[in-house]
Amino acid sequence: MSPGARRGRRPAVRARRALGDARAAPDLRWVERLTGASSDAITSILCELDELVSVEAEIRAAHRAAGRAFYAQIRAPFELYAIVRLTRPLHVVEAGVSSGVSSAHFLLALQRNHHGTLHSIDFPTFQRGPELGARESGVSIPPGRSSGWAVPDRLKGRWDLRIGRSQDLLPNLVEELGRVDLFLHDDLHTPAHLAFELATVASALRPGSIVLADNTVWTGQSFPRFARRLGTDAYRRRGSDLVGLRVPSASRDPSS
Ligand SMILES: C[S@@+](CC[C@H](N)C(=O)[O-])C[C@H]1O[C@@H](n2cnc3c(N)ncnc32)[C@H](O)[C@@H]1O
Repeated sequence: MSPGARRGRRPAVRARRALGDARAAPDLRWVERLTGASSDAITSILCELDELVSVEAEIRAAHRAAGRAFYAQIRAPFELYAIVRLTRPLHVVEAGVSSGVSSAHFLLALQRNHHGTLHSIDFPTFQRGPELGARESGVSIPPGRSSGWAVPDRLKGRWDLRIGRSQDLLPNLVEELGRVDLFLHDDLHTPAHLAFELATVASALRPGSIVLADNTVWTGQSFPRFARRLGTDAYRRRGSDLVGLRVPSASRDPSS
């Protein structure tokens, strides 16, 4: 499909239906602000997802098979795909995997890029019985499964999945990589923990690196403070409390 034909289309509609999450309608303006890409380029990339609906259908089927008809996943899986396709990161790092909706969309984009690796950290909690209890978290892992249980096997080639607490694993991972092009915080949503993760990845960020944090309604001033320290703006995704920033070229030292 030509860029002209794509213009005016609402992209990722088929993908959203296949995934079964109406909240996943992509916020193009948010991606534009984070990547600096044109809306035409973003629309073009998002249209790819409508050609990849079988992956979304597989993710949904995996959730249904585990009794999770509606899953408390990240609301922006298609924007994660677009950001990776547009910025072509070498190292994507995420904290918080659970069933792996964010992971699957990062991996899909990395596979399409033929470039880069996703490094994920997860410290899972496990569902106690065959049914999810009323007091149990929706992110707990169903019986017989493990972190990333909804990620299709054929996407796992570029995945470095590490199981443990981010407090224990993230510092070594960041030191090992030396550079982080894209970071997503989606694990323990407390102000202190987000501040710890941002301080940990800071030394490996470069101009143009993108930092995202979900559920910031629970993390107070940690993200805005980090953005101010870098001398940049934090952008909030429409309809959610997922925020992001792009490290500017002349940023202040993020680790100071
Ligand atoms: C909201 S879920 C992640 C959702 C995922 N990003 C998605 O899009 O489907 C949060 C995950 O982080 C894990 N977690 C909680 N505390 C953690 C910690 N300190 N270190 C690593 N993972 C943690 C939880 O067990 C859970 O698997």
